[in-house]
Amino acid sequence: MDTSIKFVLQSAAYIAKKLDLRDENILQYLYEQCTDYAILTDGHPPLSSAAADEFLAVPEGKTTQDNFIFGLFDQHDTLVGMLETIRHYPNDKSWWIGLMMLAPEHRGKGLGSMFYQAYESWVAQQEAQSVFLAVLEENQPGFIFWQKLGFEVIRIAPPQQFGNKVHRRYVMRQELS
Ligand SMILES: CC(C)(COP(=O)(O)OP(=O)(O)OC[C@H]1O[C@@H](n2cnc3c(N)ncnc32)[C@H](O)[C@@H]1OP(=O)(O)O)[C@@H](O)C(=O)NCCC(=O)NCCS
Repeated sequence: MDTSIKFVLQSAAYIAKKLDLRDENILQYLYEQCTDYAILTDGHPPLSSAAADEFLAVPEGKTTQDNFIFGLFDQHDTLVGMLETIRHYPNDKSWWIGLMMLAPEHRGKGLGSMFYQAYESWVAQQEAQSVFLAVLEENQPGFIFWQKLGFEVIRIAPPQQFGNKVHRRYVMRQELS
């Protein structure tokens, strides 16, 4: 694990640390706990390569060096969530959140908001001016979550294939002050 990049949350019980390929097994276990989200997105459970694929998936023009996967660890050093983000995308002053998810038993208690806010502070220190993301139209709870955090819809992406499903997505942006 790369311990050189981490950030703290408002609650001292949690810490976010940048993951690397050595963390593939714990990340894969988190994916499997989040099978509900894989079914919503892809229409099937997570692939056995889901975690490994996450380290390699970057948009055109970016490298794996630009891909940061933060793991959220509880006081027992158990991985309970993740946030995958691309540096300087879609422009040099922005970061893009590709995925954020918490294990189901940790949802709905304010932890996701706390995790995002700690990430936002960290990314502002990296001189980001905006954070972008795309949320599936079908993921209404996710959409409400991002809206409550201050994200605004800037466009609707055309339908795209994800596994067995096709989704429209809201592209959202948050300007950092
Ligand atoms: C989306 C997610 C990261 C949010 O984290 P969380 O800890 O559950 O969210 P919080 O408890 O901080 O909720 C913050 C707000 O979002 C809204 N929200 C979160 N989950 C919700 C749900 N299932 N239904 C309706 N609203 C929801 C709530 O209104 C809440 O506001 P409130 O505190 O005023 O009630 C988490 O639920 C998750 O991992 N979901 C599955 C994966 C996913 O959808 N990821 C987002 C797509 S990138």
